[in-house]
Amino acid sequence: MQNRIMITGAGSGLGREIARRWAREGWHLALSDVSDSGLQETLKQVREAGGDGFTQRCDVRDYSQLTAFAQACEQKFGGIDIIVNNAGVASGGFFGELSLEDWDWQIAINLMGVVKGCKAFLPLLEQSKGKIINIASMAALMQGPAMSNYNVAKAGVVALSESLLVELRQQEISVHVVCPSFFQTNLLDSFRGPTPAMKAQVGKLLESSPISASDIASYIFDEVGKGQFLILPHEQGRAAWQVKQQNPQAIYDEMASMADKMRAKAKAE
Ligand SMILES: NC(=O)c1ccc[n+]([C@@H]2O[C@H](COP(=O)([O-])OP(=O)(O)OC[C@H]3O[C@@H](n4cnc5c(N)ncnc54)[C@H](O)[C@@H]3O)[C@@H](O)[C@H]2O)c1
Repeated sequence: MQNRIMITGAGSGLGREIARRWAREGWHLALSDVSDSGLQETLKQVREAGGDGFTQRCDVRDYSQLTAFAQACEQKFGGIDIIVNNAGVASGGFFGELSLEDWDWQIAINLMGVVKGCKAFLPLLEQSKGKIINIASMAALMQGPAMSNYNVAKAGVVALSESLLVELRQQEISVHVVCPSFFQTNLLDSFRGPTPAMKAQVGKLLESSPISASDIASYIFDEVGKGQFLILPHEQGRAAWQVKQQNPQAIYDEMASMADKMRAKAKAE
């Protein structure tokens, strides 16, 4: 069997849209998430879009669940051609307010979940000379205020992806990392942070996106097809990244003034 893709966090948001985008091309999909109802809905939409596949409950914190998922892909599909490490959660709060438990939770899902996904599926990707698509965030490149644990986890995903890009070239496994800015999904449901005000601020940022999860999935599809490593779906994100590379101090100053404004707003509430 050819054209087989696995997606973590496929029960909602971007994971579901990526599933629908590849389904339109008739791919076979292995869909995993911690939400069984989310997975059933995604599989229904995948079938409507022209694809097919199976679902498997998988918490990306648990390596044995990921290796079991890889085994299922081998048994049902005979292997895998693309893996998408997409599962993730949101968090916020100034560094002084975040607990070490907040850090452990964030790193375990958003960073180690990706490390474990890559490791569990590497043997299958070596067979297929497949592709890895890791979902990071513009947070990885910009380090916005009041989300240091999220920033670090996502910067780790970019560093991991760069490391794999270099190491896996000889095995002909291609690597892509996606850094979207905020966009509307159910990400806020998983939000963990010290104050409800912070959650409300993140909610407003998600709503402000000019593009949807579906637009982002299509952009990823096209850029992966072109062999692009660093994929920045938001136009504003591409512009900000250019500024950061040329004049990082300008971004530090902007982020510091954003932090001041957020503190002032939190005090006023
Ligand atoms: N929405 C945004 O603004 C935004 C911006 C940049 C990056 N991202 C990233 O996009 C990815 C997808 O997020 P989304 O916005 O679609 O959010 P979402 O909440 O709609 O979807 C995330 C999915 O991941 C699943 N999930 C959570 N913890 C899991 C775990 N431990 N194991 C397996 N699955 C788990 C959830 O059940 C959910 O179905 C995440 O990695 C997120 O960090 C989102």
